[in-house]
Amino acid sequence: GFQINKMLGSTGTVTLDPGFTNTASCESEITYIDGDAGILRYRGYPIEQLAANCSFLEVAYLLIYGELPDPESLALFTRRIKRHTLLHEDFKSFFTSFPAGGHPMSILQSGIAGMATYYDHTLDPQDPAQLDLATTLLMSKVPTMIAYIAKRATGLPLLYPDASRSYTEDFIRMTFGLPYQMQEIDPTIVNALDKLFILHADHEQNCSTSTVRLVGSSQANVYAAVSSGVGALSGPLHGGANEAVLAMLGQIRDSGVSVQEYVSQVKDKKNSVKLMGFGHRVYKNFDPRAQVVKGLADDILERLGGDNQLFDIAQELADTALSDDYFVERKLYPNVDFYTGIMYSAMGFPSQMFTPLFALGRLPGWIAQYRELVADPAQKIGRPRQVYTGHDERQWVPRIERT
Ligand code: ACO
Repeated sequence: GFQINKMLGSTGTVTLDPGFTNTASCESEITYIDGDAGILRYRGYPIEQLAANCSFLEVAYLLIYGELPDPESLALFTRRIKRHTLLHEDFKSFFTSFPAGGHPMSILQSGIAGMATYYDHTLDPQDPAQLDLATTLLMSKVPTMIAYIAKRATGLPLLYPDASRSYTEDFIRMTFGLPYQMQEIDPTIVNALDKLFILHADHEQNCSTSTVRLVGSSQANVYAAVSSGVGALSGPLHGGANEAVLAMLGQIRDSGVSVQEYVSQVKDKKNSVKLMGFGHRVYKNFDPRAQVVKGLADDILERLGGDNQLFDIAQELADTALSDDYFVERKLYPNVDFYTGIMYSAMGFPSQMFTPLFALGRLPGWIAQYRELVADPAQKIGRPRQVYTGHDERQWVPRIERT
C-alpha cells in the first residue's frame, strides 16, 4: 500500500529522513512485510508455514537461493555445510585470547571479520564460485565460533563439531558439551531453537541488514559486511533487546517494583526507561514472529520448567501494557524478542549468549541480502546525503589568539 517515488541519479533535491522511516534503499525479492496486517513472508512463503514445517537449513536455502530445496538439493547443501564446520586450529586461539568475560558479540564480530584472513580465496563477490564457498563457510563456521565463545566463557574445553548430528543439535552439543555429553540432546530443545532461528532468519532492511548492504555496496567482502551486521545487531534497540528484556525482568523482580509502577516509569519517560521487547518500526499491529514464539515458549517452559517467576512478570507486563492507552495509542506490541530471552534462559543459555543466537538465526538473511546486492547491476555504492547545520565559512585564528 505504498506510493513509490523512484529517485534515480541526482535530482537536485535532498530528502531529510533521519532513521530512514520513509526511505527505501533498494528493491528486493527476499522478504515481504506488511506491518499493519502483521504479515511476514520469506520468498513469498508465510512465516507461520515455514516455522511449522521446515528446518532452519531448508529456510536458509530458500532465502539464499530463492526456492525451497528438493530433497537432493537440501542433502547437498547440508553435506557441504557439514564438511566445513571445523575451524582452522590456529584460528581457535583467536577465540581463547579474548578476556573470558568479553561480550560474545564483540568476539563474534571480530571472528567473522577474521575469516577473511583464513579464507582469502573466497573474497571476490563477483566470482560466483567464491561467493558460494564463502556462503557455505559462514553457515558452517559461525555456529562453531559461537559455541567456542560460550565454552571459553565457562572455561570448559572446546568441542569439535560432529557431522553426524543435525545443524542445530550439534550447535547445542558444542555449546553445552559436558551437561549433554552423556545423554541424547532433548529433541524439544533442538526443535524449538531451530524454529527460533527460522523466525529470525530475515527481516528485510532492518538496521543490521542495511549495514550489511551498505558495507557490501563498496564491494567489501562478505565477511567484512556480515561482521558489520553483527556490530549493528549488538545494540539494545536491535538484537541486543533479547538480553535487555531479561535484564529488565530481573531488575523488576529484584527491585520489588510492581509491574504497574515500572510501566508508569516507562510512560513518564523517566531516565529514558523503555519497555524492552516492545515496539517495532514496521509492525504496528502485532509481530507475527512474537505470536509463534509465545506458543513455543509455553511448550518449552512446561517441559523444562524455566524461570516461571520471570515468565509471570513478562506476562503481567504484556497484559498491563496492552491495555494501557500509552502503548495502545503508539501501537506498541511485544516484538519477537519479548519472549525469546526467557526461552533461551530455560534452555540453559547465559544471557550474554542471547544476541549471538539471534545472529546465527539472521546469518542466512544477511548472506542472501549481500548476494542480491552484489548481483544487482544497478546497485551503486551507498552514500547518503546530509543537511549541513554547522558554521558558515570562518577564518583561521593563530592558536595564541584563540580565547
Ligand atoms: N517503550 C516505551 N515507549 C516506547 C517504546 C518502548 N519499547 N518504543 C517506542 N516507544 C515510544 C517512543 O518513546 C515514542 O513516543 P513519543 O511519540 O511520545 O515520542 C513512540 O513510542 C514512537 O517510538 P519511536 O522511538 O519513534 O519508534 P521507532 O520506530 O523509532 O523505534 C524501536 C522502534 C527501536 C523498536 C522502539 O520501539 C524501541 O526502542 N523498542 C525497545 C527495544 C526493542 O525491543 N528493540 C527490538 C526491536 S525488534 C528487533 O530488532 C528484533
